[in-house]
Amino acid sequence: MITKKLGWTDLDFTRIGLGTWAMGGPEWQFGWGPQDDKKSIKTIYKALDNGINWIDTAAVYGLGHSETIIGKALKGMGQKPIIASKCSRVWNEKKELGSNLKRDNIRKECESSLKRLQIETIDLYQIHWPRPEEDIEEGWGAVAELIREGKVRYGGVCNFNVRQLERILPIHPVASLQPPYSMLVRGIENEILPFCGENNIGVVAYSPMYKGLLTGKFTRERAENLPESDHRCRDPRFMEPELTLNLHLVEELEKIAGDNGKTVLQLAIAWVLRHPEMTSAIVGARKPEQLDDFFGAADWTLSGDDVNKVEMLLKEREEKLDKIKKE
Ligand SMILES: NC(=O)c1ccc[n+]([C@@H]2O[C@H](COP(=O)([O-])OP(=O)(O)OC[C@H]3O[C@@H](n4cnc5c(N)ncnc54)[C@H](OP(=O)(O)O)[C@@H]3O)[C@@H](O)[C@H]2O)c1
Repeated sequence: MITKKLGWTDLDFTRIGLGTWAMGGPEWQFGWGPQDDKKSIKTIYKALDNGINWIDTAAVYGLGHSETIIGKALKGMGQKPIIASKCSRVWNEKKELGSNLKRDNIRKECESSLKRLQIETIDLYQIHWPRPEEDIEEGWGAVAELIREGKVRYGGVCNFNVRQLERILPIHPVASLQPPYSMLVRGIENEILPFCGENNIGVVAYSPMYKGLLTGKFTRERAENLPESDHRCRDPRFMEPELTLNLHLVEELEKIAGDNGKTVLQLAIAWVLRHPEMTSAIVGARKPEQLDDFFGAADWTLSGDDVNKVEMLLKEREEKLDKIKKE
């Protein structure tokens, strides 16, 4: 699979990274319903066997469970993939979530992640959310300290805006930004992407298929019957009035994908990767067979004509949604 350098670093990322949020399982507030750990491990092996060279996880995914599964899968492996994890989302004994960017907390979290992942150094350590916002400098200073100590190779951030990036850049260079980006979430296009390009900060987009909605396989029936333990049952994009518009969008996208001999899932990923600033798309998979669809996406360069056709559909969806909201 083709690779791209992550910003100014010496890390070469395959254009698709494996996202492991759903591998965290259902036992917490942002679970994805029941998950079979054996399938998670098989998915990791299959992704690596097929050339994906980096894995994204976070301490909070399944309250440590996703990292533990990755640690188990990679134990004893000679050439391990690039591992990216995250800090700052914390939890208590009652599994209640919070955010903490204090130096001592970040250091403690890093030690726990290293243990769960069974590695000596985390290749890319990312602040998960800029919360509490007043502590972003302290949290970033702690990541810089971990880099100097060799526990972390490069530091990155997720969900930061330009102002927040500008505040932390003088403390230590930022290797990457991990923002949400898909046809349904386009907030980074005007300001954030150009800023990352100008500052040579790598960009790794999350939820490129909007959590499975842009795969062409998500049905109304599935959306209406998501279990309570799957956080998507509380996500407005899986609920009316948006669901009908989103399913209609997917139907229309199917035509563009089909004309290219591709699937909607591949179109969704290739559309995310079309920006020159975009290093890689983090694609979540929870079963080995889901990966088969990914491989035809990374090297598909969309034509200008197809980009325009998608743009028209997205504009149409946006206008309909605005109208419904005003009614
Ligand atoms: N930094 C952050 O704040 C942040 C936030 C969100 C995500 N992330 C990272 O980004 C990764 C990817 O994002 P994401 O998992 O939210 O969304 P995504 O990649 O857009 O969608 C992943 C989901 O799509 C479904 N899917 C995958 N392959 C499929 C296939 N071939 N056919 C049909 N359905 C398929 C699976 O769910 P089902 O099988 O259940 O439908 C899978 O869990 C995460 O795993 C995580 O590592 C980071």
